[in-house]
Amino acid sequence: MGRSRTAQAEVEPSNGYGSLEELMALALQHEHGAMVQYANHAGLLSHWINPIFATSIQDIIADEVEHAVTLVNALAVRDVTPTLAVWPPRSGNQARELILMDIAAEQGAVELYSEMLEYDLDPALRTAITRIRDAEILHRNIFNDLLEKV
Ligand SMILES: [Fe+2]
Ligand SMILES: [Fe+2]
Repeated sequence: MGRSRTAQAEVEPSNGYGSLEELMALALQHEHGAMVQYANHAGLLSHWINPIFATSIQDIIADEVEHAVTLVNALAVRDVTPTLAVWPPRSGNQARELILMDIAAEQGAVELYSEMLEYDLDPALRTAITRIRDAEILHRNIFNDLLEKV
């Protein structure tokens, strides 16, 4: 609240992403895109291979929803209208191709949240973002395990 935008800019790392709010909005779009992409992939993989694939992926989707809720709340606290934009989801016609897209999405998320942790965050937000970043690492590992089963 107290610090001006200019003063805040001086302590932010020059990572090319812009302000923390811009980075949070980008992450929110990313979460929206992940939900749509993973729902599509869960359905296709359960049709092509085995319904068990949908179970793991639906658990991941539930986590992405929780991440989006955290980001919407953090943006609202900062008086920023949370975006409804959706990072373009991707699909394909081969099981391996889909899971590689999902691993790439998780890797992107890990990088986004790691960038966010370079900012001067209040302790509560730092704890929340660290939890999200760790969840994305776990998701990436789960998709890596799924890749070995197709
Ligand atoms: Fe997420
Ligand atoms: Fe994730």
